[in-house]
Amino acid sequence: MRLNKIRKTNRLAGSLLAGLLSLRGAGLFAEDLESIDSRVEALLRKMTLEEKAGQMTQLTLQAVSSQPESVSSRHRLDPGKLESMLSGYSIGSILNVWDAAFTQEHWREVITAIQLAATNTRLRIPVLYGIDAVHGHHYLRNGTVYPHNLGLAATWNPDLVRKIYELTALETRATGIPWNFAPVLDVARQPLWSRFFETFGEDSYLVSVMGVAAIKGQQGEGEVLQHHRVAACAKHFIGYGFPRSGKDRTPAWIPERMLRDIFLPPFQAAIDAGLLTVMINSGEINGIPVHANPKLLTGLLRDELGFEGVAVSDWEDIIKLHSVHRVAESERDAVKQAVLAGIDMSMTPYTPSFHEHLVALVRGGEIPESRVDLSVRRILKLKFRLGLFDDPFPDQGLADRIGSLEARETSRTAARESMTLLKNEAGILPLSKQARVLVTGPGADSLPALHGAWTYTWQGNEESFYPKDTKTIVQAMRESIGAVQVDYVPRSGYSDVQDMNLVLERSRNSDVIVVVAAEKPSVEQPGIIVDLDLPSAQQQLVRVAQSTGKPVVLVLLEDRPRILREIERDTGAILMAYRPGMFGAQTVVDVLFGDWNPSGKLPFTYPRYGASLEPYDHKASERQDLAYAWTAFDPQWPFGHGLSYTRFEYRELSLDKTVMNEDQELTASVTIKNIGNRRGTEIVQWYLSDLYASITPAVKKLKGFTRIELDPGETRRVEFKLDRTTLSFIGLDNRAVLEPGQFEIAAGPLKAGFILK
Ligand code: BGC
Repeated sequence: MRLNKIRKTNRLAGSLLAGLLSLRGAGLFAEDLESIDSRVEALLRKMTLEEKAGQMTQLTLQAVSSQPESVSSRHRLDPGKLESMLSGYSIGSILNVWDAAFTQEHWREVITAIQLAATNTRLRIPVLYGIDAVHGHHYLRNGTVYPHNLGLAATWNPDLVRKIYELTALETRATGIPWNFAPVLDVARQPLWSRFFETFGEDSYLVSVMGVAAIKGQQGEGEVLQHHRVAACAKHFIGYGFPRSGKDRTPAWIPERMLRDIFLPPFQAAIDAGLLTVMINSGEINGIPVHANPKLLTGLLRDELGFEGVAVSDWEDIIKLHSVHRVAESERDAVKQAVLAGIDMSMTPYTPSFHEHLVALVRGGEIPESRVDLSVRRILKLKFRLGLFDDPFPDQGLADRIGSLEARETSRTAARESMTLLKNEAGILPLSKQARVLVTGPGADSLPALHGAWTYTWQGNEESFYPKDTKTIVQAMRESIGAVQVDYVPRSGYSDVQDMNLVLERSRNSDVIVVVAAEKPSVEQPGIIVDLDLPSAQQQLVRVAQSTGKPVVLVLLEDRPRILREIERDTGAILMAYRPGMFGAQTVVDVLFGDWNPSGKLPFTYPRYGASLEPYDHKASERQDLAYAWTAFDPQWPFGHGLSYTRFEYRELSLDKTVMNEDQELTASVTIKNIGNRRGTEIVQWYLSDLYASITPAVKKLKGFTRIELDPGETRRVEFKLDRTTLSFIGLDNRAVLEPGQFEIAAGPLKAGFILK
């Protein structure tokens, strides 16, 4: 388990900062080497085995910090431990925050002190510091926090995602941290999974597009990263999002075809986009823990996908090959299996035991030193590409760009574009600004519910760390439409029944009741749930609101689709807000009162039943069949669904040919018209159906999408091009194949057929 709660005055800063000034820009390595590769080789030749093993070892910040004197103590590095880990074990990488988000000044002190300690080691190799900044730099007190990835996916706006990750990289680098453990490229096919919200949803194509945007945003282009960039880390390779039970880090059973069809494409796209690092799946697939699987970590990742960057383990996962998974009889054996499988760096993370075992294994002839060299080369190369050898210290020049207006505006835009209106019966929304509103529910006056896990703390639930100017939904609503019109029945717990009579009584003076349902923020193992239903206390609250006869609007602050079938029918409007972040409250209010016209589309299938979790790209045999299979595919809302305050009409879907051969391109076009009376954004989604194939085809597959914004009455013709890659699938021998035959392409309610010869 992770340690918690420690803070204390930092005494390292002053004198060390003076040292930093003299080192900045001096070039800690003055060798006149022409390229990064030759600099790496020159350095590698000087290294002892112990120094190499150190580069492959990553410790958590706790391992070099003082023990707290009291729970309120401020975090303090322990110079003795730091020296022993860096000089004694040549540790190459450190990660994580102490207990909760640091201030900008503290981050800079910590990173400066660590890098200064690294300059006292024999070879003065800088430390590679890594952090989770998965929806903005959320471990920074004044960092900009964005919606979680699931909400970003609902925007269907990769340019926006690229910008968000670029701004996140800038804030991360401004605190001296050059490595972000993001983006999550797991494909969310199991809604029970506690990390569903960290993903870009259930579709491989959407995840791939967003993943590439997140990587390019962080790394930019080019061999050496610019000083405001960070190395991205695509995680968690591979198949982590599909545990059979839905519980985090439990067994997954994934046939190779499915692995290649669903889970591989985002990683392939990320590697093709220049991805620098990957983190490995903590779980097991088909009985083999991924950390010990050479077929996946070397055969697939290296030999087939051509990944040349650094593969880091996840938290303690090499030790867990012994202590949890039981495929290794000892920790030493675990280290041997993981390194031989292909891991470059072990997130150990509390002790340097990995280092000791690795040295012993090489000395004992069980791991060739050449294997160690391979990993160390990759790690050193990364450090060179990040510019750490030239200047490992936080760049003062970036400091005042943290929390910039641009970043905050971008967070607001993302929250807005993510809002997904699932239901709006009889045009209940937008509400009149003259309406008297009763607001209730566990998310109504809560900051954690708007942000989710990974916000200031790991689980995101420490309200005291949230900036004072962040608003809850009730506060934002009172400011927007006037305090006298907004009544609030104080917060209930996430799963306990509040005083329902109060809701009944207070509803008498209101025109509409807004219930803000919310999941308790949580992630990883603390976030495991065993039931997908919206907690019964919250359903009961909605029923009580419905019993008043007043219109009911339900806002969902959720990490995943929680089943609400029983209460949906009598709820007039339902808004999925995901975890919208620091501008989430105002954004929800803007949607409810019509200052923002929603355009978000679900990046997942919203199930109707907890035991019927088929994704949108299921097989034809899972289609609803009224004669025999009443419970077959019948979701609450389909993938790609989302309403607007205007309406769009699709017309004239046409193809430039109805027969194509495999070397040709086919162009489909469709006209969209805004037939409502407000400006709005539509996301035109292109779905392909392969009608007959040697492997049962999915009923449809998303192949492309375009965002368009139209004024009332305006029309736009949108094109989509298909070629052999669009039409291929993973065939009988687990390779991509193209089979002639009949296909259909659909946009909105329209379809057109064609033949591949
Ligand atoms: C998570 C990773 C995360 C790492 C470092 C692990 O428990 O699975 O996603 O990057 O911790 O915090």
